[in-house]
Amino acid sequence: MTTQTAIDTNCITLTRFILNEQRKHPHATGELTMLMMGIQTAVKSISNAVRKAGIASLYGLAGSVNVQGEDVKKLDVLSNDLFINMLSSSYSTCLMVSEENKTVIEVDKERHGKYVVCFDPLDGSSNIDCLVSIGSIFGIYRKTSEGDPTEADVLQPGNQMVAGGYALYGSATMMVFSTGNGVNGFMLDPSIGEFVLTDPNMRIKEKGKIYSLNEGYANMWDPAVAEYVQNKKAQKAGARYIGSMVADVHRTIKYGGIFMYPATADSPKGKLRLLYECNPMSFVVEQAGGKASTGKMPILDIQPTEIHQRTPVILGSPADVQEMIDLYKKHNL
Ligand code: AHG
Ligand code: MN
Ligand code: MN
Repeated sequence: MTTQTAIDTNCITLTRFILNEQRKHPHATGELTMLMMGIQTAVKSISNAVRKAGIASLYGLAGSVNVQGEDVKKLDVLSNDLFINMLSSSYSTCLMVSEENKTVIEVDKERHGKYVVCFDPLDGSSNIDCLVSIGSIFGIYRKTSEGDPTEADVLQPGNQMVAGGYALYGSATMMVFSTGNGVNGFMLDPSIGEFVLTDPNMRIKEKGKIYSLNEGYANMWDPAVAEYVQNKKAQKAGARYIGSMVADVHRTIKYGGIFMYPATADSPKGKLRLLYECNPMSFVVEQAGGKASTGKMPILDIQPTEIHQRTPVILGSPADVQEMIDLYKKHNL
């Protein structure tokens, strides 16, 4: 007897999903669709590069030369170039912020579109060389000012986000994003090179059993974080920490619980960046029914003042995050 693999002849691809979303807005120009296509192409290429990184010698330092005499770009340089090139050529973006670029990146005038995009092209870079999950993160905003784009156009609070999400290069490649109307997850089917809707309407648990933060910094925590972790241990909660924000947050959405990168004595603003790490991930978490806070205020309400600014972040199941916020109040922090 031969076994046949079932093929879904009517599967919802990411492209199909986005086109359908566009149709719901009769005045949509299709620019956001084109932008998402650009991100999708960048993510597919990064995924491909990640999967063959070892054999293609994409590890190590940027600037080395391969046997063909071509420059070998390490994964984060390659990912950044892909994001910049695919977004610039989508005619939908005028200004970008990347973790890898000191200043904002302006798209050539003749290719300007109405959106601004903040992205972390490769998140979790310290996990590349040991083959642990890594990701990409993006947040999309409308340019609100008149005239040429300026830095002010990307300094918008997260609550103004039009769409945001992430790609996870894990045991499979996934794209998870929201356009402000819930969260949907798409798994890359490598046999057809398409993202297929596998996790429609993702929802986070009200309360979880996992806590996730770097415990190596315990001596530098404030009393609120210290008390929270102590409570979790007393409850025999599970501890998980991958060290790639995308993977840690994806697990938090799927299984519930809390992820945090709090302030510590020597980094009072934590480590993670507001524009292209905390805001898009908080947007997705909140769209899935979760909560994201600094401990004192919602992440998405922060008015940014600098493109690379950092913020402490606590996100995940709403009841777990609320417990942490209550501890910040209790300790008057
Ligand atoms: P990036 O690779 O883009 O610089 O970000 C790494 C970040 C994030 O993914 C992760 O949550 C955090 O760094 C881990 O930091 P620690 O090693 O201090 O825990
Ligand atoms: Mn990062
Ligand atoms: Mn990065």
